[in-house]
Amino acid sequence: MKKVLVTRRIPEEGIELLRSAAEVTVSELDRDLSGQEIVEMGQGCTVLLTMLSNRIDGELLDAVPTVRMVANYAVGYDNIDLEAARRRSVVVTNTPGVLTETTAELTLALILDAARRVSEGDRLARSGGFTGIHPLFMLGMGLDGKTLGIYGLGRIGRAVARRARAFGMHIIYHNRHANSEADAELDARWVSFDELLSTSDVISINAPLTRHTRGAFDLAAFGRMRPGAVVVNTGRGPIIVEDDLADALERGFIAAAGLDVYQDEPAINPRLLALDNVVLCPHLGSATRECRAAMAVMVAQNVTAFLAGEEPPNRLV
Ligand code: GLV
Ligand code: GLV
Repeated sequence: MKKVLVTRRIPEEGIELLRSAAEVTVSELDRDLSGQEIVEMGQGCTVLLTMLSNRIDGELLDAVPTVRMVANYAVGYDNIDLEAARRRSVVVTNTPGVLTETTAELTLALILDAARRVSEGDRLARSGGFTGIHPLFMLGMGLDGKTLGIYGLGRIGRAVARRARAFGMHIIYHNRHANSEADAELDARWVSFDELLSTSDVISINAPLTRHTRGAFDLAAFGRMRPGAVVVNTGRGPIIVEDDLADALERGFIAAAGLDVYQDEPAINPRLLALDNVVLCPHLGSATRECRAAMAVMVAQNVTAFLAGEEPPNRLV
């Protein structure tokens, strides 16, 4: 039987499916494996089942020459050098679709929390700061009638837009290309990046990390936003320049932010930790029992298809 290394425990549904088709080793360590550990444990393996915290590049692939497939347990794949995999004829897959609604839910949670100051209010209440409701107490921003600007209208961005419409929001978006189907379904309008920045009350970042999106939200971008704007990121951390976000929040360029992803995960910029008007979530976008189980089955189906000589359903290269 072919060998599969699973670099960190995933839900049992996926492991069972893998065991029906391969000799499976699941890392027993309750932490991310280093590149060196993946190389050592991956010797003789045909498949690496990886987490988005595992960096997979050409050097690593050369050190485990039996590996023919990298099955990523994530929709994002910026942790994998696809070109390096392609050059070595290593197949790469991801887990799209099954985490769309789940990640959209968390995005709405961050929008609502940052706009209505839920986490900040929780901290205040716990620290004895609630001395009675009064007319000017902890005022936030209402969402009804406001404009949501989505940066990256893919599957997740559209799922965010559908939910935001139920809150009475108008939808604009910026992608490299307009998407007329989405325009019709969501009554959404494509705008330039500049217009997205200057006309959105809430900006939701739902783009993947690419050379086009890396660092797109810098001080100049925050400076073009409305002073009351709320920025939420459930895409990838490095799309925002975190020091610039801290500057923008400190200087009142924008009102608040909600983050699920960070520039240098799992580290969180200490300047953001010190601010009350930013909600910090520890990368929970896909973290529901339902979603993680569905991701486990999907990643396993990709592996079993590959081992059976079939085309894996979610092949990237
Ligand atoms: C989560 O961030 C993922 O890409 O699956
Ligand atoms: C991810 O699934 C996306 O397309 O947004």
